[in-house]
Amino acid sequence: MSILSGKNILLGISGGIAAYKTASLVRLFVKSGANVKVVMTPSAKDFITPLTLSTLSKNPVHSSFTNEDDDNAVWNNHVDLGLWADVFIVAPATANSLSKMANGVCDNLLLATYLSAKCPVYFAPAMDLDMYKHPSTLKSFEKLNAFGNIMIPATSGELASGLVGEGRMAEPEDIVTFVENDILDKLPLRGKKILITAGPTYEAIDPVRFIGNHSSGKMGFEIAKTSANLGAQVILITGPTHQKIKHSLIKVVPVVSAQDMYNTTHEYFEDVDVAILSAAVADFKPKEIASQKIKKASSTLSIELTKTKDILQSLGQIKKQQYLVGFALETNNELENAKGKLKRKNLNLIVLNSLNDKGAGFKTETNKVTFIDNNETITEFQLKSKADVAKDLLNEIIKQIDA
Ligand code: CTP
Repeated sequence: MSILSGKNILLGISGGIAAYKTASLVRLFVKSGANVKVVMTPSAKDFITPLTLSTLSKNPVHSSFTNEDDDNAVWNNHVDLGLWADVFIVAPATANSLSKMANGVCDNLLLATYLSAKCPVYFAPAMDLDMYKHPSTLKSFEKLNAFGNIMIPATSGELASGLVGEGRMAEPEDIVTFVENDILDKLPLRGKKILITAGPTYEAIDPVRFIGNHSSGKMGFEIAKTSANLGAQVILITGPTHQKIKHSLIKVVPVVSAQDMYNTTHEYFEDVDVAILSAAVADFKPKEIASQKIKKASSTLSIELTKTKDILQSLGQIKKQQYLVGFALETNNELENAKGKLKRKNLNLIVLNSLNDKGAGFKTETNKVTFIDNNETITEFQLKSKADVAKDLLNEIIKQIDA
């Protein structure tokens, strides 16, 4: 999954020959999972049709302040468009439009939208080589840069004039990669590695049976998704679940038993910055695994169980730079039990969920948690979706590792 997935991308097209490439650009943004809207200058329509762009973006394309073809003219609200955008990309950005943007000129819908946008603005210049180097154009770049706008530099090559030099708009693929990397580089967990355990473990009784639990894995998967969306590189070690996840920053490592999860977690732990152990690991496993399917020969059956290794505790014993987070599911004496686990397992933070809280626990879409850190600071939260709990948790971790 691209970091652009779910983002609202507003593409501003000004009137240069490179506008013909914006059909591919819209297609690539849509393919990355983004919602795309297009605003174009009137002269951009000489180079590419609004119909092409509205078909590809699956949204109406705007180029004037009112809907021209309509007798009951409807105002195209540039303020709404500007506010809708998470990212505004002007591509191609002609010398004319750049100069107007740099000087607050507002004589078309694209420019009015630019002045209304509160989101990050990127611009991909496209012009002939002498225009690209002209002091006036350089002044526009400088001013836009000072406004906090981000330039996607033009490349060198053959230009529409037949001359060869700098001024070609960056290729659509490179514009997408540029924007993705720029967004990623600014995320608070960029460069951090996070290990997450999720789901239940299955402990084999015989070749066809196991001891398991009702953990859905949802909480751990939400934590993985949120971590990756904040820029972290994630190793998600998961027991058997129905959860699905696809994200370029998440490596999923499936495991089955507590021992598998122990081995895999230790394999990855050494160079991670944060480890969040949300899996519902079986505390006991059959002492012997029958090599053949057990027959119902007698009216009762006893299976001798033995303790599994406590993964969290073992990591607490060897941790160095790692910020270690555990979960505690309690039914009574919740705070005291959770504080005890925090100390015993040498954690930085424990996330307590009490089974006494309605809507918290295994199979629900929601959770109600309390964070306790190793200074015994207690933060209680309301019942919320597991996705929002994941956001609270990552915000807390970012606060603590930055402190
Ligand atoms: N955990 C683990 N390995 C185990 C058991 C638990 O890593 N073999 C981790 C869980 O992922 C969770 C935390 O330990 O982060 C707490 O699990 P929980 O079952 O609530 O606590 P226990 O320490 O097993 O204590 P008890 O079951 O006695 O309450």
